[in-house]
Formats: sequence, C-alpha cells, structure tokens
Amino acid sequence: MAELPGWYDNDIDRVIVSADDIRAKTEELAKQVAADYAQADSVLLVCVLKGAVMFMADFARALGRFGPPAELEFMAVSSYGQGTTSSGVVRILKDLDRDIAGKHVIVVEDIVDSGLTLSWLLKYLQSRSAASVDVVALLRKPEAVKVTVPVKYVGFDIPSEFVVGYGLDYAERYRDMPYVGVLKPEVYQR
Ligand code: IMP
Repeated sequence: MAELPGWYDNDIDRVIVSADDIRAKTEELAKQVAADYAQADSVLLVCVLKGAVMFMADFARALGRFGPPAELEFMAVSSYGQGTTSSGVVRILKDLDRDIAGKHVIVVEDIVDSGLTLSWLLKYLQSRSAASVDVVALLRKPEAVKVTVPVKYVGFDIPSEFVVGYGLDYAERYRDMPYVGVLKPEVYQR
C-alpha cells in the first residue's frame, strides 16, 4: 500500500521505517509475545507516553488476535526536553493507576536510545512486585546495544539518527505521521 500524503512529507529527508513495515512487524511481535505468554491468564501492557502511543494502540490490537487478554496502563516520564539529546533525568509525570503486584507486565516502548529511561522504569516496575517484566520496543538505536537493558522483543534496529513519526516528535510535532523518518536539516533551523 502506498503511503498517503500528509502535511509532514515535505519536511522528511528519508523514510526509515514505512507504515507497511510497521504493520507487518507489529503483527510478528504480537505473535511472539502471544506464544511466550500462552500460559498467562492475562498481561498488563504499560505504555510510556507520549511516544509509544501509536505502537501501544496497534500492538494491543494485534496481541488481542493472538494472545491472552491484555490490560492497558499508561505512564508518562520525562527524559528529553525540547531538543534532540537525552538529559538522563527521569521524572514521573503520570504514574500507574493501579497496583501491578503479581501481574505479567510488558512495557511497550517506542524507541530505546541510551536506555536510561528504560533501565530506570524496569527497576521501578520490579520494585512494585510485578510477577514478570518484559519489554517490547518498536525501534532500537545502536547506543542501546551497549547498555545492559534487557529488551526481549525489538522491531527494528535503526541508525543513530534523530527520527520522528509514529508517535515520535520533534518539539511536539510529527507524532501524527504513519511512518518513521529523518527530518531535513533545514527543519532544525526554523
Ligand atoms: P533514552 O532514555 O535515551 O533511551 O530515550 C528514551 C526516549 O527518548 C524515547 O522513549 C523517546 O521518547 C525519546 N527518543 C529517543 N530517541 C528519539 C528519536 O530519535 N526521536 C524522538 N524521540 C526520541
């Protein structure tokens, strides 16, 4: 299926992951998770806002077709400011609404870059007595491979560049793109 045109297309230098590739990979990841959790009564998907919102919505629906029933929870943490480099500071902006003790938690992440956010989050979830904690991340940058964050399910390994789209933003824009791409250099000069 060809990409439908959107307002953002003129700002994009090149596509890193197409909407079709995201769809196919999401289904593949959901099948893997479903197979691994076939014995579980249910799983609790934890989405880290805002970047993972598109992936959470699509992944949850795909998992619904293959796997155990899923509960959905949302957290918001801050790691990046307005710019494009990690601050290393993690702050909870929105906490879990419910107790996760004894639950099989699967963190649904948009992208693992330095892994700082994720390693902090995993410790936090484990401290709240989850029965198990796994991570499914749509994208992973090379930096993340160096950090010892256990990301069991990874969609795509991408180059070490700042990407936008499918939930990922630059200064709160481009989240509404259906694919992932790299911005033209002039966009940063505006
Ligand atoms: P980390 O702590 O460096 O792994 O970064 C985690 C978060 O930073 C991700 O969940 C994203 O929200 C954001 N992030 C990292 N890389 C990018 C990028 O290339 N584009 C947009 N956001 C990013």
